[in-house]
Amino acid sequence: MNRHFSLDGRPVAVDAAGDARLLELLRGPLAVTGPKPGCGIGRCGACLVMVDGAPVPSCLVLASRLEGAEVTTVDGLGSDGVTVLHALADAGAVQCGYCSAGMTVAIVGALRTVPRPEPGAVLELLEGQLCRCGGHEGLRRAVQALFGRG
Ligand code: FES
Ligand code: FES
Repeated sequence: MNRHFSLDGRPVAVDAAGDARLLELLRGPLAVTGPKPGCGIGRCGACLVMVDGAPVPSCLVLASRLEGAEVTTVDGLGSDGVTVLHALADAGAVQCGYCSAGMTVAIVGALRTVPRPEPGAVLELLEGQLCRCGGHEGLRRAVQALFGRG
């Protein structure tokens, strides 16, 4: 069955069973490689995308809920995404880069939903984003640079 939705601002249709996962569709037929496969159970954040403006692990999103949805990957975040990626790089939070797309989606989500965060609130929002290279100190510096505190 074809699923019709918006992907990074363009309409797409992809044939998928209802229980297919968005991550599989993105990295398979849709050839979008920003979201990365990791735990597969919503725990690492490597596959994070936005669905209708909210950051969600794409490994948990079923094709059956995609009809009419607006899906945004790291490639569709525009200037917000570029700003965050530069902040991560400047803070030394990008080593192998495997987690960077998910980190960027999570931080842009925070920037868009928490305009005046309390100290520590942004990093609490990012607790589900794992970095196997141990880049969390760099992430803290990037968040401080972006939010002025963290
Ligand atoms: S692969 Fe989706 S959260 Fe880990
Ligand atoms: S930079 Fe390698 S997993 Fe985060």
